[in-house]
Formats: sequence, structure tokens, C-alpha cells
Amino acid sequence: MAFTIAFSGKGGVGKTTLCGLLIRYMVENDRYPILAVDADSNYNLNEVLGLEVETTLGEIREQMKKGEVPPGMTKDRFIDTKSEEALIETDKFDLLVMGRPEGPGCYCAANTLLTNFLTRLVGNYDYIVIDNEAGMEHISRLTTKDVDALIIVSDISKRGLQAAKRINELARSLHVVIGRGYLVLNNVEGELSDGVKKYIDDTGLEFLGCVMKDPKIQQYDMMGKPTFELPADSVAVKSAYEIFKRIV
Ligand SMILES: Nc1ncnc2c1ncn2[C@@H]1O[C@H](COP(=O)(O)OP(=O)(O)O)[C@@H](O)[C@H]1O
Ligand SMILES: [Mg+2]
Repeated sequence: MAFTIAFSGKGGVGKTTLCGLLIRYMVENDRYPILAVDADSNYNLNEVLGLEVETTLGEIREQMKKGEVPPGMTKDRFIDTKSEEALIETDKFDLLVMGRPEGPGCYCAANTLLTNFLTRLVGNYDYIVIDNEAGMEHISRLTTKDVDALIIVSDISKRGLQAAKRINELARSLHVVIGRGYLVLNNVEGELSDGVKKYIDDTGLEFLGCVMKDPKIQQYDMMGKPTFELPADSVAVKSAYEIFKRIV
């Protein structure tokens, strides 16, 4: 079974950035093939990785619900063909974008077919890395699998750390087995204060360390350059790699 790593944390703390850097770390350290899953409805992991998205599983589900299956094609065949289009392949990792969650109405047939597709797909990889929004719906959707490592990302604010604690509690109340729960602080400048250290302890999570604030990340962002291509000696890459080697 594939080793599964999922990111969570409140919006804007750096989940997608760190997810992209983790994938790069794994590729550079022979931890592949990887299936990267963008499980944020407002997806953008592809931008961090420098990839174009053609379609998402959410769009395929909508098309099937609306009866947009071409005449003469079975629903199974439709889902298979479309899902393959949704999988963005690269040499050492592939990216699958979940897209928007389902709206009102019955998606049972589409969901069953998509679950079958995911189950088959997941078997092709040694690692799965999931960029998750704060809610954990998609994790339970991928439930044929457990999560070996849940990385909860936070900034150094009290509210961020309290959110990290709640996300950890929520994750443990789902029908997903979570192996280890880790806390990573992102966008850190200087030393951690005693106050922050206390809130870190309070989360009950294993604290792995800090990824430092890196002006290069913002520069790349502004220029539309993928974070994936940051220079190896940049502050964020170096501090993130120190953490990743303890996870995978
Ligand atoms: N270590 C860092 N240093 C500087 N900027 C960062 C750092 N990590 C993330 N950012 C920036 O913060 C913003 C939010 O990051 P993102 O990864 O999209 O967060 P999330 O996925 O949690 O919503 C982005 O503009 C990103 O470029
Ligand atoms: Mg994100």
C-alpha cells in the first residue's frame, strides 16, 4: 500500500507551497512514483508545480450527472476516458485535481464509478501526497486508504495554532486512520516566543520545526513562476527539506 501524506491547516498558511516542496523533495530523493492529489476545491497546486489542469473529477461528475455522456458510450467508459484526461502525468509524479465538491442532486452513480477509478489508480503509486483544504471531506473520500502522516501547517499566530489543534481533533473523529500527526510552522521569522511554544505544546501534535519566511516565494508568485523551481539554496527550500527528511 502506498505511503500517504496529507496536508491540512487553515487557509493561507502555506499548505500548497509546502505540498509542492515536499513533492520536489521526494522526487529528488527517489521517493516515487507519487500521486499528488489536489483536494482543495479552489485548486492551485498545479501552479506551484508548474502544470496545466484540463479537467477535474468534479467537472466529470457534473457532466455525467447532466447526462453529457456521448451517445453510444457507456457511463463506465466515459468516466474511465475522462478520468484519464484528468490525470496530469509527469516523469516521476502525477497530479489529480478533485475540483469542486458535488452540488445538490444525486451523484451516486458517478461517485461509485469515480471511487472505482480512484481505487484502481491509487494502486499504481508508492506514495500519495494530498493537498487538502481545512475540511477533511476528500480525505474520507479517498478512504480505501489510511493517512500515514498528517501534516498540519500553521503560522505562528495563536488562532492559527488553535485551528491546528481543532483540525487534528477533527481528523481523528473521521473514519480515516491517521498514523502520525505532525505540526509544521510556516512563514517564520526569527526565534519562537515562549507564548508560541506554549500553544505548540497545546496542539498535542508532534512539532517538526519551522519553514522560514522566504521573499523568493513571493517574488516567484508575482512573476507567475512555479514555487517548484525555487533555487535549492533558498531559505524556504532548505528549512523545508530539514523537516521532510524526518517524514519520508
Ligand atoms: N515560507 C514562506 N515564505 C513566504 N511566503 C510564503 C511562504 N509560504 C507560503 N507563502 C505565500 O503565502 C501565500 C499562501 O500560501 P499557500 O501555500 O497558497 O497557502 P494555503 O495552501 O495554505 O492556502 C502564497 O502567496 C505563498 O506564496
Ligand atoms: Mg492551498
